[in-house]
Amino acid sequence: MIWKADAPSNIALIKYMGKSDSNLNISANPSLSYTLKDLRTFVEIHETREECDRWVCLEGAGLDPNFSLSEKGKIKFLNHLRRIKNRFEFRGTFEIRSNNSFPSDCGLASSASSFAALTLCAVRALQSLTGLTLSENEIVELSRMGSGSSCRSFFSPWSIWDEAGARAAEVGVSRLSHMVVVVDDRVKSVSSSEAHTRVASSLLFGNRAERARQRLPRLMKALQSSDWTQAHEIIWAEFWDMHALFETADPAFGYMSPDSLHVLRCVRDLWNDEKDGPLVTMDAGPNVHLLFREDQMSLRRELQTRLKGTFQIWESQA
Ligand code: PMV
Repeated sequence: MIWKADAPSNIALIKYMGKSDSNLNISANPSLSYTLKDLRTFVEIHETREECDRWVCLEGAGLDPNFSLSEKGKIKFLNHLRRIKNRFEFRGTFEIRSNNSFPSDCGLASSASSFAALTLCAVRALQSLTGLTLSENEIVELSRMGSGSSCRSFFSPWSIWDEAGARAAEVGVSRLSHMVVVVDDRVKSVSSSEAHTRVASSLLFGNRAERARQRLPRLMKALQSSDWTQAHEIIWAEFWDMHALFETADPAFGYMSPDSLHVLRCVRDLWNDEKDGPLVTMDAGPNVHLLFREDQMSLRRELQTRLKGTFQIWESQA
């Protein structure tokens, strides 16, 4: 038997950073994300008679021919598969194949889509092999234990994750297009898992959850009332807040590079000149993520002209 599933990635505008329970991946603060439906991970599960589960690259049209997982990445992925098998008390073994619909060398994190797709696929396989059925809520919670941000990938186009769990958020804005200015596509030296732990040492971390809690309803209100400028200002402050936690941790670390700052400056100049621009955010990495409304095609072109083709740009119609 072969089971298949796929899931999208998401970009957080109010960030999940810091955990109140690191074993269960419970976030210290609420977060809000936009689902990137064209950035997907595809997973296939095959039953085997081997001693252990194993991971191999999934091949196929539209998938990344150069995709591979690091040793650490494979272990994290297979550990999550084991967690799901334990939930079903299943002792058999699987070969698990996965790949992304976006290139792995373009600086885009795939943890959210990978863990959501793996969870969906493994649950599908194990439900049919054991006859046990999980609720949607339990599937989302299982996925969260593999990678926190993956629990937001189950809802579209907006997802909120707070004390009550992850669910769809009513924001009113949809059909945004996503662009990433890739200033550096190398694997980061501090993983997001490590960042979650290290931010707790920053003196700014004390009020961090409160700041995110205040921004989240203000952002939703701004988006619901189409106050794009206000939404941009909240999102801008929010990613700087997260990056300030990194730089004020003990020991300090960071992802921002001179090129990231250059791109951010270009976007800010565009906003100042045009009194309009994209929503802009950065994850735990040096690349700059932008979200444009459908009517902002000419602004998108203008920004590309200003960036003078210096950086690789990954665009998708979200
Ligand atoms: O799901 P994780 O453990 O890879 O954490 C991701 C955290 C950020 O991407 C930096 C922010 C977020 O909310 O997605």
